[in-house]
Amino acid sequence: MRTLIFNGSPRKNGDTVALLNVLKSEIPGEIRQVDAYFCNISPCSDCRWCVQKETCAIKDGMQEVYDYLENCNNVIIASPIYFSCLTGPLLSLGSRLQRYYAVKRFQGKNLFSTKKLGAVILCGGGDGSYQTALSTARCLLRESGCEYIGMAAALNTDTLRADNDVAAKTEVRKLAKRLRSGWED
Ligand SMILES: Cc1cc2nc3c(=O)[nH]c(=O)nc-3n(C[C@H](O)[C@H](O)[C@H](O)COP(=O)(O)O)c2cc1C
Repeated sequence: MRTLIFNGSPRKNGDTVALLNVLKSEIPGEIRQVDAYFCNISPCSDCRWCVQKETCAIKDGMQEVYDYLENCNNVIIASPIYFSCLTGPLLSLGSRLQRYYAVKRFQGKNLFSTKKLGAVILCGGGDGSYQTALSTARCLLRESGCEYIGMAAALNTDTLRADNDVAAKTEVRKLAKRLRSGWED
């Protein structure tokens, strides 16, 4: 099983990473994590290359991520909630998935040949609104060719750090179980 994680948190020992650590300990196989704040991948510049070609014109670290994405089994979008959305760098990284949308829309080609499962992990301080972030994360999963299987969240991190949030960690374990069972024969 191969899992690709897009991590939108700048905090190396923060809440999102705490939930990701739980997930990672519960799923077998290879895991590749792309940290949006530290990956040096440029945003999409809407150059329209992928309207006519299948590739992306920007030759940077995303080329390797595309290869992995096209051959993995699971994709996880994990992010703190910033102003009810995903973080800016994660959106910037996610904009490079536009290639898949454009190739499908303008050339009628689906670049994903195999089934993929997608899940979302969110952390928020406590204002309670996560729907916008979730809906954007689901949009990124859709463009990554994934079938959405669910989310887990720690939404009161101002008062309860994610690594102490038993309910959120239980949700993450359930999510991991769904990912595992999605690949059982
Ligand atoms: C710029 C900024 C905007 C934020 N906006 C929200 C928000 O809209 N809703 C919310 O619940 N928490 C918000 N927060 C709080 C973070 O989502 C919260 O602290 C989260 O647990 C941080 O996760 P991390 O430790 O993985 O980076 C915001 C934090 C920052 C720095």
